[in-house]
Amino acid sequence: MRIDVITIFPEMFKAVLDASIIKRAQEKGVLQIALHDLRDYTHDKHRSVDDRPYGGGPGMVMRPEPIFEAVEAIKPATCRTVLMSPQGERLSTSMAQRLSAVDRLIVICGHYEGVDERVKTLVDESVSIGDYVLTGGELPAMVLIDAVARFLPGVIGHAQATDEESFAGGLLEYPQYTRPPVFRGMAVPDILLSGDHQQVAHWRKLQSVAKTLQLRPDLQGGT
Ligand code: ADE
Repeated sequence: MRIDVITIFPEMFKAVLDASIIKRAQEKGVLQIALHDLRDYTHDKHRSVDDRPYGGGPGMVMRPEPIFEAVEAIKPATCRTVLMSPQGERLSTSMAQRLSAVDRLIVICGHYEGVDERVKTLVDESVSIGDYVLTGGELPAMVLIDAVARFLPGVIGHAQATDEESFAGGLLEYPQYTRPPVFRGMAVPDILLSGDHQQVAHWRKLQSVAKTLQLRPDLQGGT
């Protein structure tokens, strides 16, 4: 999968994309990320990407021309284009999984008070990472890339890992433990040391359901 990111801060992505699992995914060739500086698609000497809003009001709005030119320059015949925006559909496991199935993805990072509304005609969907406003779309884009990358084949060690983690099947993940068996007086539940896989699976399911009901009753809770 190739992801093209259009941003006015390409340098913000380096630390996140050049580390850990996302780095390995790129080294393996499963994921390719190309960063594009939106200012490269301006034609004035100040390389301006924003302007005052029509109708007045505070702040600046991102101009449509550089964004259109950038997308048109990058866009292959088939691809999905998303705009990071607090007004978008909330990012979810199913959305990340769905986007991981596309071969080419273009991600546009918004800024300032927002993006000229006409940019919406250029994108397939707008994506929000939650009901709060950040200073720009870069952090949300990194969150999206990370969430999508985890579903690419071979990125996570065990395929099972994405099936059992939180939100898979509408449930939070069961509690996890590792050694030592007793730490500062806190013991690992006996059942996990029993070696009885069926009992362990049953216990985990009950824990998942109980945890979800207690902490996130809004989730589906089904399988
Ligand atoms: N840009 C600013 N805030 C955002 C959010 N919550 N989600 C996506 N893009 C954003």
